[in-house]
Amino acid sequence: MDQEKLVRVLGIAGSLRAGSYNRGLIEAAKELAPPSMSVESFDLTAIPIYNEDLRQAGLPGPVLALREAIATADALLIATPEYNYSIPGMLKNAIDWASRPPDQPFDKKPVAIMGASPGRLGTARAQYHLRQCFVFLNAFVINKPEVMVGGAADQFDDHGRLTDETTREFVAKLLVSLQEATLRLAVT
Ligand code: FNR
Repeated sequence: MDQEKLVRVLGIAGSLRAGSYNRGLIEAAKELAPPSMSVESFDLTAIPIYNEDLRQAGLPGPVLALREAIATADALLIATPEYNYSIPGMLKNAIDWASRPPDQPFDKKPVAIMGASPGRLGTARAQYHLRQCFVFLNAFVINKPEVMVGGAADQFDDHGRLTDETTREFVAKLLVSLQEATLRLAVT
């Protein structure tokens, strides 16, 4: 495996909230990425609500940008909140838009999932719903480590920076797993 090859990761936070813990996880990943990995983020704010009529009329600009960003990234990193034991509607909406044919960009894409919540289970239930979506979309989701950040209020500082050292180590390990899987898939 060519560990020197740059792995370009697209980070997506499933929250629009200014002080989002999940955006904080993506920002932490930018700091914790191993050598030869870059992490850039995509802001879902401008993605409209899915409407098949809009799709038939031509994909909206923000959707085209999202699809292009996914297609050109080597791998994806998604930080999902948990809403009512599942993934937030806005994240599902973005995945739904990006997933429509032709050339749905999740196919065979390496994906790492993480999530933060003030609750004790740290988005575990949402993460498994997200994994289920990616089964249909034929993405390759990293199995371990599972980064389920519970008690988020104690893990970030007042500026939304991830400060808990143990959690930072988990994020770093997830990124190494994503890097290894991406490089392995690239040579097969
Ligand atoms: C929540 N929250 C929540 N938390 C959780 O652990 N399990 C859950 O099922 C839910 N359900 C839920 C539903 C709705 C509609 C909202 C708005 C919130 C709390 C949620 O984890 C919290 O708001 C996080 O801070 C959201 O993530 P960001 O915005 O900080 O990234």
